[in-house]
Amino acid sequence: MKENSQASRRGFIRKLATTTAAVAVGANVFAEETESGLYQSISRQAGFSANDQINIALIGAGGMGVQDTLTGLKVPGSKLVAVCDLYDGRLKDAQGRWGSELYTTRSYKEILARPDVDAVIVATPDHWHQQISIDAMRAGKHVYCEKPMVHSIEEGPDIIKVQKQTGKVFQVGSQGVSSLGNEKAKELLAEGAIGKLIYAEGFWARHSPIGAWQYPIPSDASPQTVDWETFVSNTNKQPFDATRFFRWRNYKDYGTGMAGDLFVHLFSSLHFITDSYGPNKIYASGGLRYWKDGREVPDVLLGTFDYPETDKHPAFNLSLRCNFVDGTSGTTYLKLVGTEGSMDVTWDGVTLKRNKSVDSDDPFYIEQMRKAGSSIIGRKRILPPEEYTFAAEKGYLGGPYDHFANFYNAIRNGDKVAEDAVFGYRAAAPALLCNDSYRKEGPILWNPKKMQLV
Ligand SMILES: NC(=O)c1ccc[n+]([C@@H]2O[C@H](COP(=O)([O-])OP(=O)(O)OC[C@H]3O[C@@H](n4cnc5c(N)ncnc54)[C@H](O)[C@@H]3O)[C@@H](O)[C@H]2O)c1
Repeated sequence: MKENSQASRRGFIRKLATTTAAVAVGANVFAEETESGLYQSISRQAGFSANDQINIALIGAGGMGVQDTLTGLKVPGSKLVAVCDLYDGRLKDAQGRWGSELYTTRSYKEILARPDVDAVIVATPDHWHQQISIDAMRAGKHVYCEKPMVHSIEEGPDIIKVQKQTGKVFQVGSQGVSSLGNEKAKELLAEGAIGKLIYAEGFWARHSPIGAWQYPIPSDASPQTVDWETFVSNTNKQPFDATRFFRWRNYKDYGTGMAGDLFVHLFSSLHFITDSYGPNKIYASGGLRYWKDGREVPDVLLGTFDYPETDKHPAFNLSLRCNFVDGTSGTTYLKLVGTEGSMDVTWDGVTLKRNKSVDSDDPFYIEQMRKAGSSIIGRKRILPPEEYTFAAEKGYLGGPYDHFANFYNAIRNGDKVAEDAVFGYRAAAPALLCNDSYRKEGPILWNPKKMQLV
């Protein structure tokens, strides 16, 4: 890690002083003073191109699959041509939403066999991500795969291998990494706005049945309306169980617990902002405290992670928490703390807080004070604002939109995707290893660069 934070810090302050400076690649910044400090709005300069139409198909038409498709269709130049799901009610909903002529099927292989499909969205439960993604790339389709990229760490290398073999575009769906907020945080960190990174923390808090994954079970759920045999065909066989099908997040065979569901977003954003490969030591603890509905995963999970020094960042520590029994329901945050300040990062903005103390041993400052003939001790100084808010410009379409636009640009122009298979695996692996650490009640050592257990 190069020790240039002093120079970066001065550069950062100078940049804030000249508020017209353009600070982002592809983004504009404009600033005004507010009561609480300095406010800047961030925006994109260029739109996204829509040269050739991209035909997409959705595999897994539940909550997120529908959201992804709606987002993907907002980006100019795409069309939905087919939908796959294992529950008939979802297929009916899809036709209700997108038209009765929409092709629907229970078999994702039928989708992959269609020559008119350019790209698929894989938004099934986690235990199907790997197989469908690999089959799709082998069938010549580009893939937008929901997070976490894989259900267990053993599954990651094959996706990476097949993506390289096929050359297909593969984007993982932690959409925050494409957001203006994450981009701004990355720039600020590189500019030395918080000094040297020491620590980061992230948090998700919920307290509602839906938030805790107790989803409604449709009244018509039955072996006739649900293709249960296919659902469990790549995992432990069980007799038909509508609760396991519709509340799959609560069961180890299909879901990846709080860490795979939620920590993974925080890893993705943190790794994007810091250019990190990930932690080399992972420890998680927690328990099932409240939602005792037969679930196999904890409802309180704490994780601590050691990040080793690399040429991109110093060694630092990360603490993540997830709590489904929390009176502050709805809270989520990601904070990066450095020697000179901290940043609260969201997809739509960054709040930067600078340390209150100013260097008293700055030689330039001491010399100026001496020349001015004033006593250094006791002389009051002009201080810069302590808090700066960088907020996305009004009308910003958001990280999810940008993530799809990025995916399409990669398909059309060969641009790099924001979250490729290696990035997606490096974000998923420490999350999945939290589950292993929790179960074995001990830390796990991981080589984040080689992506291997130690
Ligand atoms: N990026 C995000 O912010 C975000 C948010 C929520 C969920 N997700 C991810 O999206 C995925 C789906 O989550 P969800 O909340 O939409 O779940 P969901 O239960 O609402 O939807 C999953 C759908 O997949 C279908 N399905 C199951 N197995 C299938 C198979 N083999 N082939 C075709 N369809 C199948 C189910 O019938 C269901 O309709 C998960 O991996 C989840 O982690 C991402």
